[in-house]
Amino acid sequence: MSKAIITTKRLSAGYNGNYVLEDISIEIFEHEITVILGVSGCGKTTLLKNLIGLMKPIRGYIEILGREMTNIEEDEYNKLMKNIGVLFQGGALLNSIPLSHNVAIPLEQHTDIPPHLIDRIVRLKLSLVGLGHAYDYLPSQLSGGMRKRAALARAIALDPAILFADEPTAGLDPVTASSLDNLLLSLREQLGMTLVIVTHELSSIRRVADKIIYLDKGRVLFSGKLQSAMDSDIPELQNFFTAQNIT
Ligand SMILES: Nc1ncnc2c1ncn2[C@@H]1O[C@H](COP(=O)(O)OP(=O)(O)O)[C@@H](O)[C@H]1O
Ligand SMILES: [Mg+2]
Repeated sequence: MSKAIITTKRLSAGYNGNYVLEDISIEIFEHEITVILGVSGCGKTTLLKNLIGLMKPIRGYIEILGREMTNIEEDEYNKLMKNIGVLFQGGALLNSIPLSHNVAIPLEQHTDIPPHLIDRIVRLKLSLVGLGHAYDYLPSQLSGGMRKRAALARAIALDPAILFADEPTAGLDPVTASSLDNLLLSLREQLGMTLVIVTHELSSIRRVADKIIYLDKGRVLFSGKLQSAMDSDIPELQNFFTAQNIT
């Protein structure tokens, strides 16, 4: 039996007192790949931000890796965040410094690892994402797919237990998207990571998802196995899976 590594209970969240999410109660299990789904603007990114403590929920309970997030002290929070990798939509690499340094930053900021070992880790992470040859490149010298992989190398620099990825394959051609999916799968296989991925791409979902959390109008409409989601007679889910099958 795998155990819940993220739990929320009746989580409500939003901006300036306006609710985007209401009564979200979910469990995300260790070593699984959970895909968060729902139409644009339904609150997927907002959910991720609340889970990782970038936003404070309006109310409700969040627990990650056994820590309750609502009353967490700053020290504890910083310690927890070393175990959490985040790949945001933009990727946000620093453009004026080489790839190697971009990936080294989390290691320099959050550990006491000496420089020569940091360099070894950076080379390892870059080769893990297929960018061993791009150590000296500036971000501007990278293609869209390479940028995503570079941001991924940085997100996993500290060997996090959990990786959050917000639309990691958005804007990539199908072949590049598929190779990024394979990379995400291999992080789970080789490093035992737990992945929480926001994506719309049905082909990606089929390739990587163990579990689906479907958000609709600020609530969880479905939470469970991919196959159950695909077999479900919930109209929104049927629409999602069939609409994209035709195209
Ligand atoms: N910084 C913000 N301030 C106010 N409203 C926001 C902010 N960010 C997102 N929203 C609103 O919250 C809702 C959910 O947004 P978001 O979580 O980004 O959706 P998704 O990621 O599912 O596309 C949208 O209506 C959006 O306009
Ligand atoms: Mg979003």
